[in-house]
Amino acid sequence: MGQRQMHLGVYAVGSGNHIAGWRYPGATTSGEDLDVFKKIAASCERGKLDFIFVGDSLAFLAEGHPGQVARFEPTTLLSALSSVTTHLGLIGTASTTYSEPFNIARQFASLDHLSGGRAGWNVVTSTLPEAAENFGREMVDHSRRYEMAGEFVDVVKGLWDSWEDGARIENKETGQYFDLSKAHELNHKGQFYSVKGPLNMTRTPQGRPVIVQAGSSTTGQQLAGRIAEVVFTVQLELDVAREYYANIKKHAVAAGRRPEHCVILPGMVPIVGRTDEEAQAKLAHLMTYVDEASAMRTMSRRFGHDMSKYPLDGPVPDLPVSNLKQGYSTVASAKAKRLGYTLRDIYNEIAIARGYLLACGSPTTVANLMQEWFEAGAMDGFVLLPAHFPEAFDDFIDLVIPELQRRGLFRTEYQGATLRENLGLPKPENPHTRARSGTRADA
Ligand SMILES: Cc1cc2nc3c(=O)[nH]c(=O)nc-3n(C[C@H](O)[C@H](O)[C@H](O)COP(=O)(O)O)c2cc1C
Repeated sequence: MGQRQMHLGVYAVGSGNHIAGWRYPGATTSGEDLDVFKKIAASCERGKLDFIFVGDSLAFLAEGHPGQVARFEPTTLLSALSSVTTHLGLIGTASTTYSEPFNIARQFASLDHLSGGRAGWNVVTSTLPEAAENFGREMVDHSRRYEMAGEFVDVVKGLWDSWEDGARIENKETGQYFDLSKAHELNHKGQFYSVKGPLNMTRTPQGRPVIVQAGSSTTGQQLAGRIAEVVFTVQLELDVAREYYANIKKHAVAAGRRPEHCVILPGMVPIVGRTDEEAQAKLAHLMTYVDEASAMRTMSRRFGHDMSKYPLDGPVPDLPVSNLKQGYSTVASAKAKRLGYTLRDIYNEIAIARGYLLACGSPTTVANLMQEWFEAGAMDGFVLLPAHFPEAFDDFIDLVIPELQRRGLFRTEYQGATLRENLGLPKPENPHTRARSGTRADA
């Protein structure tokens, strides 16, 4: 077996991940321009990245990040990108709180067929109260959202398993099109969902699209350990990240899974220059665009509380558990306690990196940080959140990727054609086929 290598993907936001990244000279500005995303996807494939990720939320936030005010629906955008890429994984967000399992199963199965096995679904429970109003609903409780999500994902996986491989036989001589003995009803009747099945789409190239999940709260971590094949997380400190990593892998093993089949990727904002000084100058330039009100709003969203009530030069307050979000305030509060941070220190970090880990420096400096986290058992790779596109992303692709490759930490060629193959994830066995043959393989 060769050296263990990292997995890397990019969080694609047309106006940049930094709240004011679009103001940077030469930066793309629109989240509704296919050409912008095509260029990001091309850079991804040049750097042999595992995937492009398109996030989503289901509400208009007038004062939010521009990328959250107006954005493409992820599966539609990713379908368009599937036709201009060949190896890149295509991961999109869809909400379990405001969708039906049958719709989600179809959308991502379609994307998997269209892309020849490159689809991934980021399962989110939706944290915005504004989204509830768009669906005529009350905001559902944090723990109930996760209970619903668990059942929802089981139903979707059941629907993806409806068809065994080889069910579409298309025999022109006999006129037999399907072997319907290979299509199975799901007949699910649970606490939240009732779904008969089968799905009106045959088994996809990956067997099932890859399941991604990003909950960081205790309930979120339990669900991630059980169902997630890729976990997105916010981590700011190496020790805390190692603990989190070990905990998720433990949950995965407790659920009967192999730890390497749950790939853990914290978010990272790379600001790369040819030298450390050049990178610092880019960061300083970016900071000149930040306005205080928007940084405060981002901090409030991250913590799930109105943070403008607290003095910026005081300590980070002990906050009651939020019904909206829990994971971020836990990691940020732990860091603040350990380093004696004031609220203003956290606020400044959020203004720069929206609460994610910042890696600012030369290719060597950035690669050193990545290597340290990787070898310490804190992650399996990163989701990159470039402050703006294309420059901040291309700096990473053209300067840091070659450095990682030189160190043997990142691939120089794609291992396979599907997202599962590149992530080192097995193709799930169809349970109906297994029952028929009486054998069992790793799920
Ligand atoms: C890299 C990353 C990407 C995320 N993308 C989305 C997204 O597209 N849509 C969304 O509603 N939440 C997204 N989230 C938020 C999580 O789904 C989750 O709601 C959040 O981490 C709070 O969950 P918790 O209460 O379990 O901590 C993302 C989180 C991370 C770390």
